[in-house]
Amino acid sequence: MRIGTVREIKNHEYRVGLTPESVKELHVHGHEVWVETGAGLGIGASDADYEAAGGVIQPDAPTIFAGCEMVVKVKEPQAAERAMLREGQVLYTYLHLAPDPEQTADLVKSGVTAIAYETVTGPGHTLPLLKPMSQVAGRMSIQAGATALEKAHGGRGVLLGGVPGVLPGKVIVIGGGVVGFNAAQMAVGLGADVTILDRDPEVLERLGIHFESRAKTHFSNHANLVESLRGADLVIGAVLIPGAAAPKLVTREMLGIMQPGAVLVDVAIDQGGCFETSHATTHSDPTYVIDGIVHYCVANMPGGVARTSTYALNNVTLPHALKIADLGWKKALAANPYLAEGLNVHAGKVTYEAVARELGYEWTPTAAVLT
Ligand SMILES: NC(=O)c1ccc[n+]([C@@H]2O[C@H](COP(=O)([O-])OP(=O)(O)OC[C@H]3O[C@@H](n4cnc5c(N)ncnc54)[C@H](O)[C@@H]3O)[C@@H](O)[C@H]2O)c1
Repeated sequence: MRIGTVREIKNHEYRVGLTPESVKELHVHGHEVWVETGAGLGIGASDADYEAAGGVIQPDAPTIFAGCEMVVKVKEPQAAERAMLREGQVLYTYLHLAPDPEQTADLVKSGVTAIAYETVTGPGHTLPLLKPMSQVAGRMSIQAGATALEKAHGGRGVLLGGVPGVLPGKVIVIGGGVVGFNAAQMAVGLGADVTILDRDPEVLERLGIHFESRAKTHFSNHANLVESLRGADLVIGAVLIPGAAAPKLVTREMLGIMQPGAVLVDVAIDQGGCFETSHATTHSDPTYVIDGIVHYCVANMPGGVARTSTYALNNVTLPHALKIADLGWKKALAANPYLAEGLNVHAGKVTYEAVARELGYEWTPTAAVLT
């Protein structure tokens, strides 16, 4: 199969669909891979790196969209890219169609076969192609929070690990899922005093077994949250209620009980945020201060560490890309029900039930297009 990857054109997106190492794997499997010139520059991969991996450098995106049977990307196709999609072509990328009627209409019109990373599942109702980005954001939240705690960035001048003779900083992690677990791991590693709040007893038990005495767990209710906030230096918002907006667990009034210069990092900002005073910020201007409390609310945290994020993403997307390339999309999806969940649009039909329901399309089950 001829597979292509292009330079991402969404604002400040530096990740790329295929690393040189992924290109090499596809090449070894006997596939031809076209790479747009400069596609990997955001992760420090040159055209020469891709050529050394067996890739063929092409001058622009139109050449790739016109010539490739499958296009592998990171972000949803932008309007200019959507205009180049066609029937019989596979698009494999993040799509997030439910809140995006314009994109959905264009994909339906194009006839493309669109497989969305975010709806590919794994055993136990997991979302393995989303997980690495939560891992990145969780780990990054501590480094972002530690920086914001410095005086020059508006923080209260606390070093999370302390030093001999001076107590470490107090970190509160609200939500002990993928983001929260990874945040706690980083904070524990720095030597901070870490408490994780969650409402799910099984999650609390898992965390307790993993961290033993290195981090405390506390059931998440209003009273325990208020108690935690009082002494906190850094609070990480990492809650998720699947399919719903994040609950506003910390109100503006509650900022009043916190220490001036304490820092809130709202990782859940992409679901509206779990602090009442959160609003989305960007990597170029990540923080603002309300009532003396520093807020960090960057909505696309993984974009800030594009190289790590690209490699983490490729680790989980490449095995499916190889199967699609080796078997063709239909056989690959028929052989793997988890990958089949990724099919959102095919030949003018919406095949993902939630997208069809949300945007008023007739739903064609994936099973119907696979037979
Ligand atoms: N800002 C970014 O760049 C970025 C990147 C990746 C993920 N995220 C977001 O981070 C959030 C967390 O993602 P995740 O992958 O860790 O989800 P997850 O499902 O793995 O974990 C969420 C946890 O929140 C807990 N929870 C729910 N209600 C709670 C409450 N009231 N109090 C305490 N805990 C509660 C759940 O029990 C669960 O353990 C999501 O909104 C996700 O979209 C943001």
